[in-house]
This record gives sequence, C-alpha cells and structure tokens, in this order.
Amino acid sequence: MKPQSLVMVIFGASGDLTRRKLIPALYLLYKHNRLPENFAILGVARTAFTDDEFRERIHLQLLRFVKPEDVNEEKIRSFVSLINYFPMDPADPDEYLRLQPRLLKLDQMIGNGENYIYYLATPPSLYGVIPQYLKNVGLNLSKGPKGNKRIIVEKPFGYDLESALELNNIYYKDAFREDQIFRIDHYLGKETVQNILALRFANTVFEPVWNRNYIDYVEVTAVENMGIEQRGGYFDDAGTLRDMVQNHLIQLVALTAMEPPTAFNPDSFRDELAKVYQSLTPLTEKDINQHIIRGQYTASEGRKAYREEKDVAPDSRTETFLAMKLSISNWRWSGVPFYIRTGKQMPTKVSEIVVHFKPTPFPLFNCAERTCPTANLLIIRIQPNEGIVLKFGLKVPGSGFDVKQVAMDFSYSSLGPIPTEDAYARLIEDCILGDSTLFTRSDAVEACWKYFTPVLEYWKNHPESPLYGYPAGTWGPREADMLIQEQNAEWSNPC
Ligand code: BG6
Repeated sequence: MKPQSLVMVIFGASGDLTRRKLIPALYLLYKHNRLPENFAILGVARTAFTDDEFRERIHLQLLRFVKPEDVNEEKIRSFVSLINYFPMDPADPDEYLRLQPRLLKLDQMIGNGENYIYYLATPPSLYGVIPQYLKNVGLNLSKGPKGNKRIIVEKPFGYDLESALELNNIYYKDAFREDQIFRIDHYLGKETVQNILALRFANTVFEPVWNRNYIDYVEVTAVENMGIEQRGGYFDDAGTLRDMVQNHLIQLVALTAMEPPTAFNPDSFRDELAKVYQSLTPLTEKDINQHIIRGQYTASEGRKAYREEKDVAPDSRTETFLAMKLSISNWRWSGVPFYIRTGKQMPTKVSEIVVHFKPTPFPLFNCAERTCPTANLLIIRIQPNEGIVLKFGLKVPGSGFDVKQVAMDFSYSSLGPIPTEDAYARLIEDCILGDSTLFTRSDAVEACWKYFTPVLEYWKNHPESPLYGYPAGTWGPREADMLIQEQNAEWSNPC
C-alpha cells in the first residue's frame, strides 16, 4: 500500500547515478502522481551545497537527463522544491548524530511519521558502514506502519563471496531485516525483462519446447557503444564481471532458465531464481581458461583506449569485455550451453536473448540461404526496439522447393504510444509499496558470488592469464568468436 508520507534519503546525491537515473525516475513518479502525498528528498553527500544550490543543479540535470517528451517546466519546478540537501561525510559515524535531527525537521515540515527510504548510491565501499551507522543512531528501526525504514542498495552487492557474506551476515542482518532490504538490479525493472516471464508463463506454446530436448543453445548479449564515461574510479576497480555479468547478465540467464513460480509473489519468484543460481555448474580452472574470454578496448578511429580514460591506471588489466560459456546442471537444461557476452565500446548498444532451437531431425528441403532455416530462433529484444521475433523457415515462392528464414516480428512500439516504463521508476515505486519481488534476495546474491568468485581468484592468482585487446567500436576479441564457434555458430551481432 502506498504510504501517506515519506522522506527519501539519497546517499551519494552528487554522483552520476543520482543525476542520470534516480532523480529523473523520481521526477517521473512525481509527474504521474505516484509518490506519497507528503514527500521530500534529502540528498546527502560530502560536497557543501545549500538547499538552493542543490535544487538549481538538479533542475539543470533534469532538463538534460529526462526525455524531451517528459519535460514539463512547471512540474519540474514543483518537484525540485521537494528536494533538500544535507552535506555530510557518510563514512563518519558522528555525522549521523546531525542527520537524525535534520530528518526530524524535514518530517515536521511535510508531516511525515519517520518513514524513510535510504538509497545507497555511493561507492560500494560504503555499503557496509552506512547501515551500521544508521543503526547506531536508531535510524534503522521500523516502528510499525508509521515509522517504516527501508534501504535500497545498488549493485554490485559485495566484491566477492566473502564480502557479500559479510554484508549479508554481519551488517545487514544486524541492522535491517531482510524485508527492509531492497538489493536493486535495474535490469529487473525493465518492462521487456519482466516480459520474459509473461512470454514464458502466460502462453502454452513455449513451455513444451523450453528445455534441452528442443533448445540447442542460448545467447545473452548486453553490449554498449559507450566507454566508461566519468566512472573510471569505480570501474577500474570493479571490471565488467562485477559491473554487468554477476548481476544483469546472470539475471537474464535466470529468467530464461527458471521454473515457473507457484505464484507471482516475492517468495515464490525469488525461490525459483535462487534455484537457477544454485544450479550453475561450478567452473573449474580449465573452464575459466577455455570458456571465459576477457578483453579490454584499445584506441581506434578517434576513440580512446581504456587505459587512457580518466582515473584508470595506465597499465590497468581490468576487463571491459567478457564472453563466456556457462551451463546449468538441472533436469531442464543439462547439456544446453548458455553463451553470454557484454562489453563497452562495442559497435552498438543492444541487449537481447536469442534462443536457438535444434534443427529438424532430417533436412528435407534445400536452404535458399546460408542460415539454416530449419533451426528456429526466438529473439527477445530487451533494448532498443523492444520486441520479440520468431524466425522460422518458409518456402521460397515459385518453382522448386527451397526454404528460407522469415520472421514474425512483434515490436512494443506497435502497441501505440505506451511509454516504456523507466526501470528505476518502477523499482523505486515497488520499494515505496514494500514489494520486494523484483529485488535480489540474500541467498541469490550469495549463490551468484559463489559461482563467480573462483574466476576472480583465478585471475588474481594468474596475472599472466590472457586479457585480449579489441579496437574500440568492434565486437570484441576474436577469441570470443572462437568460443561460440565450438557450437558451429556465430554471435548474432544485432545491428
Ligand atoms: C549499470 C552498469 O548497472 O548498467 C553500467 O554499472 C552500464 O556500466 C549500465 O552502463 C547499463 O544499463 P542499461 O540499462 O543502459 O543497459
């Protein structure tokens, strides 16, 4: 249920995420009257802004980051008036003694009964201390329906298995209950990602063929044509595995592979996701060597090399590209490889899942084209040009009996001017409503880290293990092509 009143406290209020994603998402919710009636935002960061200076900055940022069709000057002005700023160092426990009265003052101003959502948009190194320091001053305690406290934590949640366990066990279980913690992965807030569930579980035609008997292999791609922008400090420490693979890509794998939940509620849904993570076939050193390809972009055609980016070490070995083959050890997926791939500075920005079905048992017809039309493809296009495409073989008109591949193409844009919901807006609203279905549970985070930590350790212990260069603006190292060639296939490389 939507609460009557709420203060949203954003730690990391002067950062990139707040500017690009959080504030625009909150503005959209405000514009569509989806925020509580009595609402305020308290931005928290170290920089010394006054309320007015911060508001002015937010105003300009909104004009830059909100889609032109969503800009409404009057609404922006009234939204900005809900924003306040509190300069403090979140790493200093004493500062929280000042935060508490500031929040109470804001409560009095808007008529809030200590309902707070804390959004941790800070560097990951602060994810552990902030909840502890909130707890020190009693800002963690939910006091019945009027004093709800929730905390949204950005990914990556942890740096490896050990640190994720530490966050879950020592800090979070101690400071907040699991139902107060919302580990966000904005891919789950995307309309098209949620539609994987509708496609699979609201239709009868897909389920009978959705298994090892009919599916040959699955490709998951989420690539970007941008570099790391202004985030060198964070990215050079994190790398692509932590930034994209351990969360967004593996979520896409899990939604493709999960069993139907018994109901669409937080527990059943998240139980099934966790089972997929727990079934990922553990990676041996041989797998890491042969089935994981990491790359780093080099300078090309006016685009900088990764090592020339701001705040990146000139001899950095951080990966900006990763392709891997993984498998799931369970009844449904045994023997079906999943090829996943993500990278910065690729030729385009696209996220999609391609399900490759097995060819017909016997080739009855000639192929009119190189692509074998008797192997069906289902493409789930997550972004851009959101849609679903089914490819199948059909007779070429005229004499003879050649077949070629044709496409049945559904595009969300054909539904008319329905705005594709903003992922952050959707998830922030869910948190306000207390619905944690689309947020990652502690057991899922731990299972993912359990799977990926051996890779990080292997790379750490084998500094000589290959990191392939690829020219910025290309599809990554050719070793990644060789990885999927094992399957007698090529990456789909959508344009
Ligand atoms: C973020 C990563 O979580 O996702 C970024 O930190 C990445 O590095 C972004 O650019 C991609 O998200 P989207 O929604 O643009 O695909």
